[in-house]
Amino acid sequence: MLSELIALLKYAPSGGNLQPWVLKISQRHTAVSISIFLDTNIHFEKQHTDHFGYGALISLGVLAYSIEYLCQDFGYRLIDKTIPSETKLERNSILINLEACRPIKSERPSIFRNRFTDRRLYEKKPIPSELKQSLIGDHEVSLHFFEGQQNLQSIDLIFRKLSLIRFQNKELSAELSHELKSDNSSLTGIPISNLGLSTILSKITRFQKKFPLRIPIAAAYSWPLDESISRPLVNSATIACLHIPGNTNINWIQLGEEFMHVWLTVTTAGVRLQPFGNTLTIANYYRDPNFFTFSAKQKKEIEHLHAKALDELKIETKEACLFFRLGYSKLSIQETPRKNILTIF
Ligand SMILES: Cc1cc2nc3c(=O)[nH]c(=O)nc-3n(C[C@H](O)[C@H](O)[C@H](O)COP(=O)(O)O)c2cc1C
Repeated sequence: MLSELIALLKYAPSGGNLQPWVLKISQRHTAVSISIFLDTNIHFEKQHTDHFGYGALISLGVLAYSIEYLCQDFGYRLIDKTIPSETKLERNSILINLEACRPIKSERPSIFRNRFTDRRLYEKKPIPSELKQSLIGDHEVSLHFFEGQQNLQSIDLIFRKLSLIRFQNKELSAELSHELKSDNSSLTGIPISNLGLSTILSKITRFQKKFPLRIPIAAAYSWPLDESISRPLVNSATIACLHIPGNTNINWIQLGEEFMHVWLTVTTAGVRLQPFGNTLTIANYYRDPNFFTFSAKQKKEIEHLHAKALDELKIETKEACLFFRLGYSKLSIQETPRKNILTIF
């Protein structure tokens, strides 16, 4: 039963589909301890914009919540869960203690398995207010919904400009081509075919991956960014942001746990979701403004976008937060390739 649980966990979502985790499992009689470690080789070699690993921390929280969510169906119940303090996560792990119990069969494994990132067009229909209420009501963290035209325009601008900064930065543009895998056999990364891009744009993206171009003119990127950011936003009625005050490792891990709770709850209600990790660039920038090779102009732009999010959306993007869009779609599931979870017994 434990091995079945671990096998299913590989379908947990992660930033850039990097699956930056290693599990260490120890079993004694009826007790099982699962330690979730950050695989730093995977994260830090591939996600340069996220130098402080916020996306990876969210992903670890997502995995921890997934274990908690699924364990009863596999004959385990949660005893306790410990999130490490501010020390390095490759040495310290999230520790989850479970105890064998009678399995309680539920819909959870199939809800978990049917959750996926939908990057395509949604029907322009807001999600029901009862669902929003239940999500807000459930939690200590703040969950904000944005539905007005003005808010959507600000979000569109913030996301597009942040992506543009990544595209145009000499060092950071490399990570984008790494994220966008061109073939389905890759073990991590998001295949271009899953990005919801038009056929012509996927061809251009494939070409750009092979011959990365860094054109300093914003207009050169407006088409791909319009297609990957503006078009999805225009076609979704509800944008949301989860925010936890603070910027510690613990805050980011907790954000991941809460985020996965929201994702599974909306999946149960037939709602599709797409996260947008763009604002992680702002949190990383403020942690150490001089870490990156941002030009003075790019730094000014990031500071401006941070102020805009704070003024207009009331979201402090220096702190643990994640934006995502919610909606409905009749299109079928597109599965992202996975690697098996690395476990140490
Ligand atoms: C922290 C985090 C950030 C993410 N950021 C983005 C994003 O900016 N754009 C996007 O399309 N998907 C984003 N995703 C979704 C992942 O790419 C997706 O979960 C992963 O590729 C696995 O695919 P699946 O969700 O379909 O199983 C993010 C996921 C997480 C957990």
